[in-house]
Amino acid sequence: MARAKTIYRCGACGATEPKWTGRCSGCEGWNTLVEELVERATGPAAGGAASAVPLPIAEVDSEAWAPAATQVGELDRVLQGGLVPGSVTVLGGEPGIGKSTLLLQGLAGLATTGLRCLYVTAEESAQQVRLRAERLGTLPPNLWLVSDTALPHVLAHIESVQPDVVAVDSIQTVYEPSLSSAPGSVAQVRECAHRLVRASKDRAMASVLVGHVTKDGALAGPRVLEHLVDTVLSFEGERHHALRLLRAVKHRFGSTDELGLFEMTDAGLSGVPDPSALFLADRRPGTPGSIVAPVLDGHRPLLVEVQALVARSAIPTPRRSAQGLDSGRLALIIAVLQQHVEMPFQDHDVHTVVAGGVKTVEPGADLALALALASARCGVAVPDDLVACGEVGLGGELRQVHQTARRLAEAARLGFRRAVVPASAPLSLPGIDVLRVATLDQAVRLVCADPVEQHRAAS
Ligand code: TYD
Ligand code: MG
Repeated sequence: MARAKTIYRCGACGATEPKWTGRCSGCEGWNTLVEELVERATGPAAGGAASAVPLPIAEVDSEAWAPAATQVGELDRVLQGGLVPGSVTVLGGEPGIGKSTLLLQGLAGLATTGLRCLYVTAEESAQQVRLRAERLGTLPPNLWLVSDTALPHVLAHIESVQPDVVAVDSIQTVYEPSLSSAPGSVAQVRECAHRLVRASKDRAMASVLVGHVTKDGALAGPRVLEHLVDTVLSFEGERHHALRLLRAVKHRFGSTDELGLFEMTDAGLSGVPDPSALFLADRRPGTPGSIVAPVLDGHRPLLVEVQALVARSAIPTPRRSAQGLDSGRLALIIAVLQQHVEMPFQDHDVHTVVAGGVKTVEPGADLALALALASARCGVAVPDDLVACGEVGLGGELRQVHQTARRLAEAARLGFRRAVVPASAPLSLPGIDVLRVATLDQAVRLVCADPVEQHRAAS
């Protein structure tokens, strides 16, 4: 087969070269050239008649673009209804996190509602995917399956099956044979995604493309995918925990504030409707160094347990570890405790975690972290029915965080009766007593009795 003509274009200045070279002759940037196909001269750009007709905005038909529910509750929550016809969604995540499982469950759900779905597996064999579907207990007749990697074949399968929804697992393993670049390279990912996006828009077919992420969390194929598609979902979680979090990084059909929570079980992914109860299930009340913080992830309030352990250090530079928390904020809070609460940590190792494998990086967890540290340092347990939320300032002052009412309502729902909040926090809520404090020093005295006396007695 004769190869289609390809050129190399510089990603920085746009200059083109007939052959790959290490350095662009236009801008002299190194390693910026990416292969691309010389565009076929078709479509409106080539001077053809426009296929779309402009309409007054109120007359544009929006019914045809109603989302189709995948029947996977937490996925529909993040997509805000489901997959929109003609839309292209990227599902990104680290290997082994459960992307193929989520995709299969979503497609099976769509297929049971009567939509024709095509699952193109470019990584696993069709048998493997069938076995997984059997394990998940779902083999709907409307779900078609094919194992293929060449893009022209994938497009031919779409032509023959005429699906309402197509899924390609993954975009890094399909390739366009006329490009000489390896599958997964920027040139290949861009070309394959571009052609699939066009096929989706032309047929009003929803597409889901699985994308691998690199170690630092970005989608492989330097973000080219994110610009091309309508929705980017990110599937995260700690490999050693069963909890999985699904977020929309970009969503053209709704907000990106929804968080989906799943648990990986023997029977696939199951939604976690009440995550706060799950996170607090194994909490042991009465332990020094533990406190519950109501945090917000997008719009979703979550109660998490913040734990601290403070132990005498045997090394000149004591250890500071923060799991699920920002290490910069930990350092800041230790500094504020030393400076404004007169609680020394320089001879102590400090270990902090957010139990359950959730990442909490928002400032709303500052006060809880500070109180967990103080409680561990003094050996005094925080009362069981108490939560804390607020941001700690460098002067030792407490600042309110947004949506305090929502956070406290979630705490009240789970049976907490008292909340330590900054003095400026508005309102009082039914079911929970609000304890206002202006400074971290006051908060520590309130929660851990008199810490200065305690630590003097201890040392
Ligand atoms: P997979 O969906 O293949 O991940 P990805 O496509 O993101 O690479 O699944 C990842 C892991 O999930 C795999 O190691 C096995 C586990 N798993 C279960 O625990 N239960 C199940 O029902 C399934 C299907 C997978
Ligand atoms: Mg997979």
